[in-house]
Amino acid sequence: MRERYFIVTYGCQMNVHESEKIAGLLRAAGYESADSQENADLIVFNTCCVRENAENHAFGNIGALKKLKKQKKNLIIAVGGCMTQEKGKAETLKEKFPFIDVIFGTLNLEELPALIQKKREEKKRVIKICEKEGEIVEDVKPFRTSFPNAWVNIAYGCNNFCSYCIVPYVRGRERSRKEENILAEIRLLVEQGYKEITLLGQNVNSYGNDLKDGSSFARLLDKAASIEGKFRLRFMTSHPKDFNADVVEVMKKHPKICRLVHLPVQSGSNEILRRMNRRYTAEEYLNKIQMLKSAIPQAEVTTDIIVGFPGETEEDYLQTEELVKKADFASAFTFVYSKRSGTKAAEMPDQVPEDVSKNRIMRLVELVNTLTRKKSETYVGKTVEILCEDYDEKKKAYLGRDEFGRMAYFPYPKNVVGRFVRVNVLTANGISLFGEVAEVED
Ligand code: 5AD
Ligand code: SF4
Repeated sequence: MRERYFIVTYGCQMNVHESEKIAGLLRAAGYESADSQENADLIVFNTCCVRENAENHAFGNIGALKKLKKQKKNLIIAVGGCMTQEKGKAETLKEKFPFIDVIFGTLNLEELPALIQKKREEKKRVIKICEKEGEIVEDVKPFRTSFPNAWVNIAYGCNNFCSYCIVPYVRGRERSRKEENILAEIRLLVEQGYKEITLLGQNVNSYGNDLKDGSSFARLLDKAASIEGKFRLRFMTSHPKDFNADVVEVMKKHPKICRLVHLPVQSGSNEILRRMNRRYTAEEYLNKIQMLKSAIPQAEVTTDIIVGFPGETEEDYLQTEELVKKADFASAFTFVYSKRSGTKAAEMPDQVPEDVSKNRIMRLVELVNTLTRKKSETYVGKTVEILCEDYDEKKKAYLGRDEFGRMAYFPYPKNVVGRFVRVNVLTANGISLFGEVAEVED
C-alpha cells in the first residue's frame, strides 16, 4: 500500500499554493493523500510567520501530535514554510519538539521528498534550511485542489521592507518567473478547464524588474488576458506605490481581468505610513483608487489594514477610519499589529498597549462590517455572474463568487461546479448573497 500524506497549511494563498506544490512533489514520489492526520504516514506542516497568532497556532498543533507519534512509531512529521526560515526558529522547533523528523524551508521546498528519504535511511532527524534564495525551480508540478480556481506564482520574495513585515527576511529578495513559463502554465490551466487564474506575488506590480529584459506586469497581464477561452484573471497583491495607469489600461482593454484590485493601505495616517516605510501618503493612495475608478467605473478595491502599529495615536487611528469611509472598499482585512522580531518596527520604542489595539480593532471591524453590509444590500435585485466553486451540504446550495470576490449561494438541481452561473440576488447578509439561478452558461 502507498504511504499517505496529510498537509496542514497556515497563512495566505501563497502558502495554500505552496502546499499544492508539496502535494505534487509527494505524489510524484509515490505518496497518496490521507483523509486525516490519524490516517497519515507523513504529516507536513506548512507554517506562516506573518503574525504571531499564526505561529502560535502551528506550535499548538505540532505539539498536539506528540501522542500520535508515540502510538505510531513510523509516522514522519515534517515542518516547513515561512516559520522555519525565521532566524533561530528551526532551532526552537528542534528543541521544543524532539519528535519532528524533518525541518525544511520555503527556499528548498522541492527537496522535501529527498529529506524524508534521508531521514528514513539514516534514522536521524534531518534539518535543512537554505539561507539564500537560489534559481527558481520551474519543474515542480502542483497537485491542485482548488478547481475551478488555480494559483500561478509570477514572482517570489519581496524587496520592500515595510517596517512591520517579516516576509522579505523569510522569503528573500524578489525573483520573477520568466514570462514564457507563466504564460505556458496559464495556457495549460485554461486547456484543462480552470476558470479562474490568480497571479500571485508579494508585489505583482514590480514583476519583471529583476529580469531586465523589458518584462513588466502590465505586459504580462496583457498577454495572459489575451489567451483564448472563457476564464477570469485575478492578481494579488498590488503595492499602492507601484500600482499604475499602465495596469489600469490593460484591465480596461480585457473584460476577463476581474475589476477588483487588492490594494493594501495599512493605515490612513501619513505619519504611520512613513514609519511603516510604505512610501505613499493617504492622499496618493486615494488618488490611485480615483485613477482606477475613473477609467473603470465599476471597479472595486479591497484592502488590508493594521491597527496598533508602534506610535499609532488615537488621532492616527481616526485617520484610518476616515480613509476607510472615503475609499469605499468592497471589503477589508483588518489586523492587530504583531511584533515580528528582526523587523525595524519591533525596535520602535512606542509599542501600543494590547488593550488599546484591541479596542481599535473592534471599532474598525464594526465600521468595515457596516460598510460591507451596505454594499451587499446594493446587490439585491441584481443579476450577478458567479463562478460555481462548491456545494454546501448544510445550506443545500451551491456557492461561488462574483468577479469582486463576493460569495453567493444558490440552490440548483444539477452539479454546476466549475461553471459560470447567472444568479438573481434575492437577499444579502454581511458578506454573502443568496439567490436563484437565472441561467447556466455552457
Ligand atoms: N502585524 C500585523 N499584520 C501584518 N501584516 C503583515 N505583517 C504584519 C504584522 N507584523 C498584514 C499586512 C499585509 C497582510 C498580508 O498581513 O496588512 O498586507
Ligand atoms: Fe511585506 Fe511590504 Fe513586502 Fe507586502 S510589500 S510582503 S507588506 S514587505
